[in-house]
Amino acid sequence: MTLAVLASGRGSNLAALLDAFPGDVRLVISDKPDAAALDRAREAGITAAHVPFPKGGRATFEAQVQALLDTHGVTLVLLAGFMRLLSADFTGRWRGRILNIHPSLLPAFPGLHAQQQALDAGAAWSGCTVHFVDAGMDTGDIILQKRVPVLRSDTADTLAARILTAEHEAYPQAVRLVRAGLAFPRPTPDDLRAEFG
Ligand code: GRF
Repeated sequence: MTLAVLASGRGSNLAALLDAFPGDVRLVISDKPDAAALDRAREAGITAAHVPFPKGGRATFEAQVQALLDTHGVTLVLLAGFMRLLSADFTGRWRGRILNIHPSLLPAFPGLHAQQQALDAGAAWSGCTVHFVDAGMDTGDIILQKRVPVLRSDTADTLAARILTAEHEAYPQAVRLVRAGLAFPRPTPDDLRAEFG
């Protein structure tokens, strides 16, 4: 299994994946030239590529990313704090082989500021979700979730830190499930027709 990680920022999930799968992460791509994730990759001796995401230029971005994935023989793409939506064309090509992690118990609180959304809703529990990626915002089929309590004293930052600890366990576990063939996207009507006629 050859992994690529796409990250826009800090890269703590990247670090957890590097620890869990030494030697398997071959490529890190960021749309941000100064992402700490790129520094982490370089420190680990992994190819770190900045691919700009120009306004209105998603197709160009995706073509460059696809070329890098092909060059490095990537078989599984992991989004970790990657702050862009990918097209149906790209996610369809990688269907079942592209994952994301999100800091809430989806389908609750998709999108930005998920921890603040949980606090604003008065949720007693929150957590994280690893899911397959489709063209929607945090809408793909769920692989696994981990739950953490929301404390009365929590701020968005303290809740985010508690969830992040859970994320660092959840992401490698989800990757193992996918690698073992134990997690896969729900079949589409086309899949079912192909399988059963
Ligand atoms: C994580 O909370 C992840 O769930 C969300 O963005 C954050 C990325 O953190 N999608 P890091 O860059 O992995 O530290």
